[in-house]
Amino acid sequence: MAYKILVLKGDGIGPEVVGEALQVLKVIARRSAVNMDFKEAHIGGHAIDQFGTPMPEDTLKIAQDSDAILLGAVGGPKWDNPGAAVRPEQALLGLRKALGLFANMRPVRAVKELIGASPLKPEIIGTVDLVVIRELTGGIYYGQPSEKRQHGDQREAVDTCFYDEAEIVRVLRFAFELARNRRKKVTSVDKANVLATSRLWREIAAEIARDFKDVAFENQLVDSMAMHLLRRPKDFDVVVTENMFGDILTDEASVLAGSMGLLPSASLGEELNSAGFRVGLYEPIHGSAPDIAGRDEANPLAAILSAAMLLEHSLGMRAEAEIIEQAVDGVVKDGHRTRDLAGGSGTKTVGCKAMGRLVREKIESLDA
Ligand code: IPM
Ligand code: MG
Repeated sequence: MAYKILVLKGDGIGPEVVGEALQVLKVIARRSAVNMDFKEAHIGGHAIDQFGTPMPEDTLKIAQDSDAILLGAVGGPKWDNPGAAVRPEQALLGLRKALGLFANMRPVRAVKELIGASPLKPEIIGTVDLVVIRELTGGIYYGQPSEKRQHGDQREAVDTCFYDEAEIVRVLRFAFELARNRRKKVTSVDKANVLATSRLWREIAAEIARDFKDVAFENQLVDSMAMHLLRRPKDFDVVVTENMFGDILTDEASVLAGSMGLLPSASLGEELNSAGFRVGLYEPIHGSAPDIAGRDEANPLAAILSAAMLLEHSLGMRAEAEIIEQAVDGVVKDGHRTRDLAGGSGTKTVGCKAMGRLVREKIESLDA
C-alpha cells in the first residue's frame, strides 16, 4: 500500500520550494521504507492561463482522493486585478472548503540563531513557542451575501460574517486538545465587545473550557491581542480564533520567528485518510514572492517544515517529522542562510537548491 500525496506547486516560488520539500519527503520515504505515491496537479494563476480556472476539476478530484496535500503558493501580479472574474486565491478557498479543512495550524517558534533577524528585541522574543489555530472554512470568508452592487447612484458592497455552533465547537475542541499535549494554555481571540459572532464564540469557548479543566483558559479581544503578541509573545501557547482574525494575527506572529520563510502550516479536517490520520493540506505561510521567482533565491525551509507537519499529522510519522525539524535547525546552526535571512557573522548565503540539499544531507547524517 502507498500513501497518496498530491503535490500542488502553484505559482511564483512555489515550484522551487515545493521541489525541495518533495525531495526531502522522498529521502524520508526511502529511509523509513514507507511507500508514497506522489501526484502533481495544477492550481492557481498558471492554471487560469492554461485552463481558464484556478482549480481544474482534475485537481479537485485528485485532492479528494489523497491522504495529504503539499502546496506551494498561488497568485502573482499577473492575476491581481480585483475586478477579474477568476482569481488564484479562489482555488485555495475552494480547496479548504471542499475538503472541510476547518483547523489551520500555524506554529511560531523562535530559532535562537535567527533572533537577530526579527524586528523585535531579543529579550522580548526569547523562547517564544506558540501555535495559532485559525478557523478556516467559515466566517466572513464564506458568508453570503458577499457582493458589490449598485444602490441608486452609489456603489455599495456587503460581506457577511456567519458562524454556527458546530463550526465554533469543533475548532475550539481542536485547540484545547492540542493544548493538552503542549503547555496547557488556550487563548481564545474575538471581538465580543462589538460582534454577535464573537459573543457566540466566547459563550461556546467558556462551555468547552469546562470540559478541559486541566487547561488554563483566557479570552482576549483581537485588537489588544495584536499588541500583546508584540509585547509579550512568550506568554502564549495555543491561540485560537476565527478566520479573518487568524489571517491577520498569523502574519503579525510570523515576524516573531525572524522570517516568514521559516513558517509552515497545516490545515486539517475531520475526515480520516487511509493511514487513519486526518487528511490535511500543508503549505508554507509565505506567498508566491513573484519578485524572486525562478532565481534560486527562495527559502525552502517553510515548505520543508510543512512536509514535516504532513508526516506528523497526516501519516502519523512523528519521529520522521522530528528528524526533519532537527535537520533544519542543524543547517541553520551551521550558518547557512538564504537571502531573506542573510547577514550575521559566520554565516554563508546559499540558494534554494543548495539549502534543500543541505537539509537532505543533514537528515542522512542524523539518521545514520
Ligand atoms: C493565507 C492567505 C490567504 C487567506 C489568501 C491568499 C486568500 O492570506 O492563507 O493566510 O487569506 O486565507
Ligand atoms: Mg494570510
